Amino acid sequence: MTGRRARVAVLISGRGSNMAALLAAAADPAYPAKIALVLSNRADAAGLAHAAARGVPTAVVESRAFRGDRAGFEAAMEAEIARHDARIIALAGFMRVLTEGFVARWEGRMINVHPSLLPAFPGLDTHERALAAGVRLHGCTVHLVTAGVDEGPILAQAAVPVLPGDDAASLAARVLEQEHRIYPAALGWLAAGRVRVEDGRALVDGVAPAAGALVNPLPSGAAVPKR
Ligand code: GAR
Repeated sequence: MTGRRARVAVLISGRGSNMAALLAAAADPAYPAKIALVLSNRADAAGLAHAAARGVPTAVVESRAFRGDRAGFEAAMEAEIARHDARIIALAGFMRVLTEGFVARWEGRMINVHPSLLPAFPGLDTHERALAAGVRLHGCTVHLVTAGVDEGPILAQAAVPVLPGDDAASLAARVLEQEHRIYPAALGWLAAGRVRVEDGRALVDGVAPAAGALVNPLPSGAAVPKR
């Protein structure tokens, strides 16, 4: 089995908690992906030490060294990715926008996790914006990467309630816990060849749809009309 596991490069820019979740999943030999490389665009990304401590190869391609030369930056990253023979890219808190050329070369083989229920709140500060908008449900998305920022066929989403008293940090923590659940699952589906795209939508073989609904706030108590 080990020889046939899809080799994955995980791209990070910072903390790397999603990377850690992918590494933990891939520690199971039955998981269909092997993390062949953790690559950061910043030498100070905390996730690098976590990966190295687990024996996972790491590399740094400093985006700062390529200011104004995105193609050069990406060519240097792709050289590392090729050196480790990775066939799938998992963006895990990788905070650089990729060129259309890079995205096209990795079409169908590059995924991202984003801290909102896309297409709501693409971009930055998603938790602050969810709170400001007053949404009752927030969450996270794993999607295939296409040319638009935080766009592309959706593989998985998880929703969480926004609770009274939440601030961005408490909401982020609730969402992050779900990122760590759905990202390893979605990478596993892609690595196992269970994902196809039809009419811009992702279809995943052999997954069960969720049952029931997450309703927030609960429609109970005095405000509920009697029947
Ligand atoms: C995660 O919440 C991830 O969804 C987000 O950055 C955080 C990285 O945390 N990514 C984006 O906003 C991409 N648009 P991590 O380094 O602990 O995984």
